[in-house]
Amino acid sequence: MSGFGIYVHWPYCAHVCPYCDFNVYRYRGHDHDLLLEAICADLRGHASRFGKREAGSLFLGGGTPSLLAGRDIERLVEAADDAFGLAADCEVTLEANPEDVVLFAEQASAGVTRFSIGVQALDDASLMALGRRHGVAAGVRAVEAAAATGKRVSFDLIYAREGHGVADWRRELIAAFSLPAEHVSLYQLTIEPDTAFARRAARGMLTPPDADASAALYEATQEVCDAAGFPAYEISNHARTSPARSRHNLLYWRSHDWLGIGPGAHGRVSDGVRRLATEAHARPRDYAGAVNAHGVGWLSDIELNGEEIADELLIMGLRTDEGVDLDRFAELRAKPVNPDAVAWLAEQGLLALDGARARLTARGRLLANKIAAELAS
Ligand SMILES: C[S@@+](CC[C@H](N)C(=O)[O-])C[C@H]1O[C@@H](n2cnc3c(N)ncnc32)[C@H](O)[C@@H]1O
Ligand code: SF4
Repeated sequence: MSGFGIYVHWPYCAHVCPYCDFNVYRYRGHDHDLLLEAICADLRGHASRFGKREAGSLFLGGGTPSLLAGRDIERLVEAADDAFGLAADCEVTLEANPEDVVLFAEQASAGVTRFSIGVQALDDASLMALGRRHGVAAGVRAVEAAAATGKRVSFDLIYAREGHGVADWRRELIAAFSLPAEHVSLYQLTIEPDTAFARRAARGMLTPPDADASAALYEATQEVCDAAGFPAYEISNHARTSPARSRHNLLYWRSHDWLGIGPGAHGRVSDGVRRLATEAHARPRDYAGAVNAHGVGWLSDIELNGEEIADELLIMGLRTDEGVDLDRFAELRAKPVNPDAVAWLAEQGLLALDGARARLTARGRLLANKIAAELAS
């Protein structure tokens, strides 16, 4: 599989959810053409800066790219293919909202090979509390319709919602595994700053589960998923089989290269000598303006130093069951890993070692960021 991918951010949503802090804007029925054109030009601009490289993954994320009709998806897929060349087995993922189910068949014909659907909860009252505009039946219908296209299917659920008990979550997970999907992403609700949920929590009108209750929900998640044959291969991601793992996300977790195209998108691109962190202008109009003026939509492109590259390798690698090569980590930051920290973490049952490769245990994954900080000390 090619260690190179393309992320395209489509920032519009029919409705902005109160918990979400992604770079999103409410879609007000305007013409998509201006932004589509800017994204296609940005793809060409990236190709002329970095050269043509075959991509193993194209991820259409958002926001809600499933608002786009088949002909618009086709335009994006063709533009990525013309600029870079998509591998014959390229994974083309579309993040999709259940409300867009009527477009799934045309989106699949346009080149989508994997649907990632925002089901979010299998409980109507919880969907309402999350501010979603669809019920459980629509989420289930969307997963079934995506599966009927013959493409790969994943869906997202959010847990550790207000009042979310372990027994309810177990029932939801068991229902989830009866759906025709081979991959699920299970995210703990995060109260992100500057969201409606953060404002409600600050006023005492929303109380998410505390750390102990969240840990109990996480442990129940691992238990039910393991029993159902959906082990975690990353903190929040579970697949029935190895080929069902998200190729695109594996690029991030393995610190490979990807382009960040579209408003607010982040990229990591190496040119053999330097590794650049790129970030595009967040507002669609600024982004399109930058593409017109400079050929690419960047707000910034920063060269990462060895220590920064090493830290990303560690933090991202520790999230997965593949773990991280500590020799490579030490080489990149030109400093050995603290052997006492490694020994102590292993003794505590948080880290498992296989030669130079370190992996977090299920318990260790709960503390991934703290453990990364300990190893980097
Ligand atoms: C970028 S969103 C796009 C999904 C799609 N627009 C939808 O809503 O169905 C990707 C996923 O992030 C998750 N997510 C967004 N905000 C979150 C939060 N505050 N806490 C936990 N998960 C969140 C949701 O599960 C969502 O499906
Ligand atoms: S969760 Fe999805 S639909 Fe809701 S605002 Fe975020 S990206 Fe848009």
